[in-house]
Amino acid sequence: MKFSVDRPACWQECEACGDETVDKDSAIRCRKCGGLLAVRHRAPGPAGHELQELFDSRTPDSWGSGVWRFGELIMPGAGPEPVSYPEGHTPVLYREALARWAGVPDLLLKHEGQNPTGSFKDRGMTVGMTQARRVGARGVVCASTGNTSASLAAYAALAGIPAFVLVPEGQVALGKLAQSIGYGARVLVVRGDFDACLALVESASESLGLYLLNSVNPWRLEGQKTIVLEMLQQLAWDPPEWIALPGGNLGNTSAFGKALEEAVEWGLLTRVPRLLVVQAEGAAPFAQGFAAGFRERVRVPARTVATAIKIGDPASWDRAVRAVRFTRGVVLSVPDEEILEAKRAIDRAGVGCEPASAASLAGVRRHAASGAIAPQDRVVAVLTGHMLKDPEILTGGPQGEQARLSTIEPTVQALEEAMESTSNLDILPR
Ligand code: F0G
Repeated sequence: MKFSVDRPACWQECEACGDETVDKDSAIRCRKCGGLLAVRHRAPGPAGHELQELFDSRTPDSWGSGVWRFGELIMPGAGPEPVSYPEGHTPVLYREALARWAGVPDLLLKHEGQNPTGSFKDRGMTVGMTQARRVGARGVVCASTGNTSASLAAYAALAGIPAFVLVPEGQVALGKLAQSIGYGARVLVVRGDFDACLALVESASESLGLYLLNSVNPWRLEGQKTIVLEMLQQLAWDPPEWIALPGGNLGNTSAFGKALEEAVEWGLLTRVPRLLVVQAEGAAPFAQGFAAGFRERVRVPARTVATAIKIGDPASWDRAVRAVRFTRGVVLSVPDEEILEAKRAIDRAGVGCEPASAASLAGVRRHAASGAIAPQDRVVAVLTGHMLKDPEILTGGPQGEQARLSTIEPTVQALEEAMESTSNLDILPR
């Protein structure tokens, strides 16, 4: 169907065939053609400066959630009690050491790892879980490389809805798995990769009567738009030249593009920042597609130490292409060594993040080195997840820093010897 002139405040539209449906429709994909759905909004009452001022008046103290204070642009029908932790209100940080490391003097970091479950997923999940409640879901489900499942588990617990999560065997960082178990989700370990897990939940969720909360769900993207909206607000609505983010299943890339399109439409922005989407070299179908002018959709077997973005067949491909085109964006890939080098720099600067998040900064450094980022350009790199998500990468495993941990006898002599040993010298002040 198509809404006539009398549009509701908010509805859903198929991105492939344009068919429309009401906002409370529980379908994740178009019932007519199977395309992905997008949430559409009637223009909010105020626009431009007036809208900026409305959002500026909602401070963290007066408005607990950094997502719902943009509610008019997200889900106008959410009602007074969305399923909220609350989340958002994450900091924008400047660290001189990292600006120098990346070769970008005006580098800022938006740390989404400071959300309640330690990743940006909470911004999408508060909206997705609110929609689950609105459509009367009996249970919720997702496939995940770890963060979505941790977030879904927490928000399902808040909503009192049973949760099932499917994760690829042996490919999920310990912190994320522990969270999913702790928050009480039923965790199913699948003999297959993330792409297999997602294909499975996509084909089975409806017949099992479970509401799917992967980022193919359009409401997730609505929440994730607020990463960009909040960042713009923190920068006094003066947009940066570039926004860098890691790309996996490409939900976030799509959400950023949608946020920027709408921000222009509603007069919040007059200049559009360019997206810099960064993938790991061994899981870079989107970067390959970009290099080939997006003539066709690329699928690869994924390999990378950054397990969060170990994805070979991203679901939100078409939406993400639109986001890159709209923002005159760039997609590039970086080898695992550069991701780990960037992570080390971020950790040593006292900021900390998980491996996939460091891809943002690794990409910024590469792009700056190629001359594509002008010296005066402001760049905001989004750090998507918390350092504690992936403890194995620091304490053990092939990329670990096991050598840093020396076990000693509880004696002064042993302590002195250990402090003199070369492997530990570089942690002492000079
Ligand atoms: N960074 C982190 C820390 C992530 O967990 C993810 C995705 C991404 C970046 C990429 O975002 O998929 O929107 O392009 N994690 C998903 C999950 C796939 O299941 O937790 P994307």
